[in-house]
Amino acid sequence: MKLFESYQFTNTAKISANRIALAPMTNGQSNNDGTLGEDEFNFLIRRAKEGFGIIFTCATHVSKAGQGWPGELGIWSDDHIQGLKRLADSIHQYDSLAIVQLFHGGARSPESLTGAQPWSASSHEMTIGRDKINVREGSPAEIEEVIDAFVTAARRAYLAGMDGIELHAAHGYLLHQFISSATNQRTDQYGGSFENRINLVRTILKRIKQMLPPEFLVGIRISPEDKYTFKGIDFDESLRLAQILKDDGADFLDISTWDSFASPQKYPESQKPVISWFRAQLDDHFPLFVAGEIWSSAQANQALALGADFVSLGRVGIGIADWPTKSKDIHYEPQSPPYSESQLSAASLGSSFIQYMKRWKGFVAENTK
Ligand SMILES: Cc1cc2nc3c(=O)[nH]c(=O)nc-3n(C[C@H](O)[C@H](O)[C@H](O)COP(=O)(O)O)c2cc1C
Repeated sequence: MKLFESYQFTNTAKISANRIALAPMTNGQSNNDGTLGEDEFNFLIRRAKEGFGIIFTCATHVSKAGQGWPGELGIWSDDHIQGLKRLADSIHQYDSLAIVQLFHGGARSPESLTGAQPWSASSHEMTIGRDKINVREGSPAEIEEVIDAFVTAARRAYLAGMDGIELHAAHGYLLHQFISSATNQRTDQYGGSFENRINLVRTILKRIKQMLPPEFLVGIRISPEDKYTFKGIDFDESLRLAQILKDDGADFLDISTWDSFASPQKYPESQKPVISWFRAQLDDHFPLFVAGEIWSSAQANQALALGADFVSLGRVGIGIADWPTKSKDIHYEPQSPPYSESQLSAASLGSSFIQYMKRWKGFVAENTK
């Protein structure tokens, strides 16, 4: 089964034992100062032990002002390196690769958490639930600072012994806000035309690649189209962006589709899933990850057949820690949510993560322990 074939990354010597990745997932289990919490450690290590070939961390914030949630793992200080090193060493004990996702929340870094008014590419008013948030435009100096923060964070990941980083340019956070024509009306070199809107993510990618040895993986996660309230992403621009990032030296691309088998919203009649469009755009050897609605072993294999090199498992990876072992049976159909609290606790989720998952409709069974 292709799912269990090893994979050598094109540009580097890194080898993954299989094609199964734990998707980056915010779990709120680290300490207030951003250092690694025990529950976060246990959650991730359990999945390395159970055979996930690649473990992505949650979105970790590259600067204090870029934090998105309480209990989020940080990478904005050298004090975070020790915990990250412990994580990388333990993941390696189980022959998995360890990749840190780097992010800044931008407009979506709440003042209640950071103590500062959120900034983004352009000023705008954003609605989250019942709250209206005034977002201000970032200054040129702040853009330079955030570039430095991403590059320094990547260096920390490298020093901690991680195998690579992923730039989180999806889901409406800072890098996505710059790419989006809806949230970026700047008139300098970081806004306006498509080339200028993608300048921030490209600059960060190139600076990291220049600074660190070639074997350190540097990938990017993108949202290929609009989703929920996040607007301003065009599918054809996303295909062009993928090609440009590859040409800039990215080691992999991670497509967050939310449904790996859906056709693009822009071309619904194509009957061709998003991932196949990206595979056709890029050459056959460029590593592609896909995430979204992959639950069974058969679906995972189908996503690989459609052109992905890796499947990133989100919710099923939370609920079923030993998914890789069970999926050796091609007929394996995992239990669907809701999962009971005791089941989630047995799957190495700490109590704060279980509480957090109650916000994901239908994931945690009500009135169970
Ligand atoms: C609890 C939770 C937290 C998430 N946090 C992140 C995150 O930190 N970074 C990110 O890029 N995606 C995040 N995602 C999205 C997942 O990585 C994944 O793309 C998405 O859940 C779709 O995959 P699934 O259908 O297998 O769940 C999160 C998803 C969940 C369920």
